[in-house]
Amino acid sequence: MKLIVESNYDMVSKKAAEIVDEYVKSNPKIILGLATGSTPIGMYKELINKHKTEGTDYSNVRTFNLDEYVGLSGEHPSSYRYFMNEEFFNGININHKNTTVPNGKAENLSEYCKNYDEMIDDAGGIDLQILGVGENGHIAFIEPAHELQVLTSIVTLSESTIAVNSRFFNNIDEVPKTAISMGVRSILKAKKIILLATGEKKKSVVKRLIETPLLCTDFPVSILLCHPDFTLIVDREAYVD
Ligand code: F6R
Repeated sequence: MKLIVESNYDMVSKKAAEIVDEYVKSNPKIILGLATGSTPIGMYKELINKHKTEGTDYSNVRTFNLDEYVGLSGEHPSSYRYFMNEEFFNGININHKNTTVPNGKAENLSEYCKNYDEMIDDAGGIDLQILGVGENGHIAFIEPAHELQVLTSIVTLSESTIAVNSRFFNNIDEVPKTAISMGVRSILKAKKIILLATGEKKKSVVKRLIETPLLCTDFPVSILLCHPDFTLIVDREAYVD
């Protein structure tokens, strides 16, 4: 694992955007794996700035997102499709047909999940995967459990994730109880992985990840320790020397 410690959230966003932007410039047909949540918002802003000021070209870039709530259409303001359009895709020259966020309204969800992994494989696999981490150690919606899903699947969200994510909804009862989430396989197959963790609330997760090189299913983010090209970017608030 490569660790990068930046002074604050803005510097983490800048650093992550620098890395992603360079990768896009050096491989205009790159396949990006993308995350939603609060953490990558600053990075997306920086990437949009770079697109506008330096002309970074996304016309041939393809993207796959990690997850989506079951039952929410892309028009729902709390859906991850809506988030991605608002926070990133609408600000760059990406062809929206080249962006894939799992379809939370798919008729046959299990068939859809199976196809999702195939879609990623058929595209050639993810070159660069961006991740955030939950306060309970989840990545995507792979929640702490006795077993972790290998393939893209329908998952039941933990009580703690529902509570944390309720900030994106009018009230906690509106938060869907299930989601489509990429599994361990497609994430670990990415050629390069960057995990962003910022703020006091991520301190214990970052500490455990750095200090405990163990693969634990009650701490899904630990699977990243098995990846040969894994970079963790944190700010001072999330990091203890
Ligand atoms: C979202 C995702 C989640 C978030 C995690 C952290 O696509 O994959 O695993 O990365 O819940 O969320 P924030 O960044 O809001 O703390």
